[in-house]
Amino acid sequence: MMYICIRVTDSSKRCVLVTGGAGYIGSHTVLQLLLGGYKAVVIDNLDNSSAVAINRVRELAGDHGPNLTFHKMDLRDKSALEGLFASTKFDAVIHFAGLKAVGESVQKPLMYYDNNLIGTITLLEVMAAHGCKKLVFSSSATVYGWPKVVPCTEEFPLAAANPYGRTKLFIEEICRDIHQSDTDWKIILLRYFNPVGAHSSGHIGEDPRGIPNNLMPFVQQVAVGRRPALTVFGTDYSTKDGTGVRDYIHVVDLADGHIAALNKLSDTCIGCEVYNLGTGKGTSVLEMVAAFEKASRKKIPLVYAGRRPGDAEIVYASTEKAERELKWKAKYGIEEMCRDQWNWASKNPYGYEPQDHTA
Ligand code: NAD
Ligand code: UFG
Repeated sequence: MMYICIRVTDSSKRCVLVTGGAGYIGSHTVLQLLLGGYKAVVIDNLDNSSAVAINRVRELAGDHGPNLTFHKMDLRDKSALEGLFASTKFDAVIHFAGLKAVGESVQKPLMYYDNNLIGTITLLEVMAAHGCKKLVFSSSATVYGWPKVVPCTEEFPLAAANPYGRTKLFIEEICRDIHQSDTDWKIILLRYFNPVGAHSSGHIGEDPRGIPNNLMPFVQQVAVGRRPALTVFGTDYSTKDGTGVRDYIHVVDLADGHIAALNKLSDTCIGCEVYNLGTGKGTSVLEMVAAFEKASRKKIPLVYAGRRPGDAEIVYASTEKAERELKWKAKYGIEEMCRDQWNWASKNPYGYEPQDHTA
């Protein structure tokens, strides 16, 4: 039998539910949605974000700002979610909401399984009950574990090294199962590599609570004087300068990848598909620090330490599948990522709510 794929790409008035839309990647994606003519409804419990981000997105969206609605809501609150779906017809859901700190997930696995798994199952149940069966899910390169070779292609064997990673893996499997059981579901699993940078306005960006786990938020806090030095984890890897190599991707490129995924969901013949979102380029810790120093004209003092437990040596993406099937390709390099990250950091050295930061 021959299938013909029909794509309807007119975004005007299409309404998308964005879970976790006040967070780092979510806020940038909501802005791109609004600018692309979509209506966006955000739900977020603000556990790791601020309502200020929503207000700033609304301002940045200009005339499109009124197309954004925000509800402070926990994904696991099924009756609240039911109420929302009963009152609004969603064309699709982009599901960012989740906890994401690897170390914390090792300390508090049940909290991660409860929030990430129960939250997702609740969402999927309510979507099914209301006949909304189009989903874009935030997965992660963490599902490749410690890849034996690079670049990572979507067909690589999957492995998770910690409870956070297992929640991503389990949710991917749940999505494959529900599509298997009901082929009306159209699902895109996006495996992000390392999102960094900020919107070029400097008005929205990453604002982690507490001590940052990830490289660039830490570097940014050293640059603005909140922390004395960056600890470089591992100098004996088999890489160009001995430090770990990752595929850093500008958060606005990542956000645009979600718009491409939404367009793809309009294909009549998509099932449950996985795409890497990365640049295909590997950059070491020291290269990234040098690029940030150049962009910010700030010296980042370094302390060299041993490897961080669980870290992979080199991870970067194969971008071919996303380029071919989503017609999406990252536009920005590390220079732009560092420029925009510094613009955000220098305008907001203590994030969205300076009064809340004591550390
Ligand atoms: P983030 O913490 O900034 O955003 C997640 C948002 O979800 C937060 O605003 C938080 O308050 C909200 N949230 C969490 N649990 C919720 C719940 N039960 N109900 C409602 N809201 C809830 O994180 P981010 O960096 O924007 O990441 C977004 C998604 O992408 C996450 O699922 C994360 O695991 C995934 N991801 C992130 C990275 C990364 O390096 N940033 C890499 C790969 C995958
Ligand atoms: N690093 C340091 N010092 C720091 C923080 C990080 O040297 O203070 C190094 C790490 O050792 C690694 C590189 O910088 O070599 C990148 O580390 P990140 O913590 O920024 O990113 P990871 O690739 O380790 O992990 C992140 C998320 C994962 C996600 C993965 C892929 O934490 O959850 O990106 O998306 F799965």
